Amino acid sequence: MLTWLVGARLLVITILTMAASGIKLECGDEICLIDAGSPPPPDQARYDHYRIYNVQFDNQEQIELFQKLEDQSDSLTFIGHAREIGQKLSILVAAHRVADFADLLKTYKLKHRVLTYNFQEKIDRNMGEVLPESIDATQYDWQHFFHLKTIYGWMDVMAKKYPDLLTVLDMGKSTQGHAIKGIKLASKPDNKAIFIESGIHAREWIAPATATYIINELLTSQDAGVQKLAKNFNWIIFPCVNPDGYKYTFEHDRMWRKNRQLFGTCRGVDLNRNYPDHWNSTGSSSDPTRYDFAGPSAGSELETQCLLQFIRSNVQKEQIKTYIALHSYSQMLMFPYGYTKERVSNYDDLQEFGKKAAAAIKAESGRDYVSGSLYETIYPSSGGSMDWAHEEAGIPIAYTFELRGPPDSQDLFILPAVEIQPTASEAFTAIRTIVEAADEKGYYN
Ligand SMILES: *[C@@H]1O[C@H](CO)[C@@H](O)[C@H](O)[C@H]1NC(C)=O
Ligand SMILES: [Zn+2]
Repeated sequence: MLTWLVGARLLVITILTMAASGIKLECGDEICLIDAGSPPPPDQARYDHYRIYNVQFDNQEQIELFQKLEDQSDSLTFIGHAREIGQKLSILVAAHRVADFADLLKTYKLKHRVLTYNFQEKIDRNMGEVLPESIDATQYDWQHFFHLKTIYGWMDVMAKKYPDLLTVLDMGKSTQGHAIKGIKLASKPDNKAIFIESGIHAREWIAPATATYIINELLTSQDAGVQKLAKNFNWIIFPCVNPDGYKYTFEHDRMWRKNRQLFGTCRGVDLNRNYPDHWNSTGSSSDPTRYDFAGPSAGSELETQCLLQFIRSNVQKEQIKTYIALHSYSQMLMFPYGYTKERVSNYDDLQEFGKKAAAAIKAESGRDYVSGSLYETIYPSSGGSMDWAHEEAGIPIAYTFELRGPPDSQDLFILPAVEIQPTASEAFTAIRTIVEAADEKGYYN
């Protein structure tokens, strides 16, 4: 099938030429599509025979080589940057680069493993676990993944079911005009509040699923400890703070991470590098084609501005004392800072709560989660929402969770739906452990 994009002038000529041959022609506001008959396949990125390599750097030469490689090639998706000796890094290698990449590993003697030989199989399986956008929101569950519309519909359903406890919130509109909706669960007006943000990175589908799981647990759990948390704290939860990106992962590219703001020939700001706290200082890019593009200026993006505005106007009023950001993957419980190895003023407390939370997860599911400052635990990065929430908004308890799978996951961000329930449950256990430990230390007095 042939498809041409043509400008308006060319179009006139084309219509005349094509009219006789009966070729169908459609023209919208922006593009004109000349179509030779059969319906076109969807505009959807595919990853057939893409491989995931996990490589280990044993010397400085290898590190510099891979730094150059990341700069040069958009056929290699690095999950992180090459930084230090002993580091292991996962890289998604495009099918047409597999031979070349394997040769490079051999030539420079890099230790490595192939984690996955055909990444599209992971995506196909994952797309089979999505319920159609047309379903009724009452069918929402934690055995499938759901479109933005269904998540928002489910929040409305729950708000109708628990009118005395729940309010649906709207933070404002995204770049492409979608509402950023959340929910507030309030048993008592004077409670201290816990704020949960998820889905800032579009492809990390387990994060919104975990956020809705937590809302549901707080409302329906028979566990006395959970009921106490629901009664004695107010919960403000925004499952999808990057709605444009989230929609894009369902409709066009499962691996999309950023928002959908246009920059010439490419799109997207990494919203978790866009916050106005030591913005653009480390672990982010000034190149709009990169996955960690920090944006043209601090707080440039509408989605960032919505969240900044919401926290600024509610942090005192709602007494927000805890900020949790949900991400995947790597199984980490991290606290500030992301931008420096300098220690935050309540480092010892945050370290202690994080270690307790990791131990609670280990006891529940056997999974290993690592706790520490973001800078020390995953990689240096600036402009993250957590650093801003702690530093500028003054929220003392702040964590970024990297949920399942493990750092050498074969699935990257494509977690099987069967893992939603256990992942969300252990995340909630971690939050519960942190809140209870912080409560004991007097953080909510
Ligand atoms: C961001 O930082 C880079 C590297 O230091 C610098 O080249 C660039 O000009 C900065 N961008 C802005 C908009 O300040
Ligand atoms: Zn993330």
